Amino acid sequence: MTRIAILSALAEEQHGLQALLRQPQEIHHAGRDFWLGELQGQRVVLALSRVGKVAAATTAAALIEHFGVTRIVFTGVAGGLGPGVQVGDVVVASGFVQHDMDASPIFPRYELPLYGRSLIACDEFLSAPLFEAACAHLERVEAGFNTKNEMAAHGVHRGLIASGDRFVSTALESAALRHALQSGGHEALAVEMEGAAVAQVCLDYGVPFAAIRTISDRADDQAHGDFAEFVREVAGRYACAIIGRWLDLLSEK
Ligand code: ADE
Repeated sequence: MTRIAILSALAEEQHGLQALLRQPQEIHHAGRDFWLGELQGQRVVLALSRVGKVAAATTAAALIEHFGVTRIVFTGVAGGLGPGVQVGDVVVASGFVQHDMDASPIFPRYELPLYGRSLIACDEFLSAPLFEAACAHLERVEAGFNTKNEMAAHGVHRGLIASGDRFVSTALESAALRHALQSGGHEALAVEMEGAAVAQVCLDYGVPFAAIRTISDRADDQAHGDFAEFVREVAGRYACAIIGRWLDLLSEK
């Protein structure tokens, strides 16, 4: 039977999932804690990578090599880059680019040296139900808001996510990042610090990968405060609801 890895950078990003785990077993490996068990009838392992591309790549490799996972999903938060990608929206990744990869002039900017590509696509079979689960969750959240007569209109987006070893925390920086990526032909919806590394490890091993990011900030001058509050208050609730539904959808297929 296959085992699915549910990966996040920080504990808050999957807060609540651990409590739902059936027959939990904690294993310490490669300086990290992993929790094996069952969620919605599926064998899973929950893992925390910590922050950044190297930490994420180590964790993804350990999940595949040591725990034998056959699918990986990343759930966490990101800064909104694209116009209309607002705090509280959800982005399901269609693919990833490393915004800090630059081996020019030897290779074109953003290209992964010797991979002949800058973009790594996510797995469609895993991503389609993730999008469906996110839409269902946001509809429920909206319905809750509407009964309280509050304004909320959060959307689910599907598109490119850019990863790099930098927390983007000024409007100037995020505009520059967006324009630089556009010059390379990449229209990124969101920015974070792990996804492209996990995508690359999964590509190397031939393991299907999908990712979902809730927008915690706009990668602008308020990003630091917005991120901290959002991660604490919202990220775990979204992960529990969306990943739970996603697992249900996968077992229906
Ligand atoms: N993750 C969440 N917000 C982010 C930001 N502004 N920059 C990089 N990673 C993030």
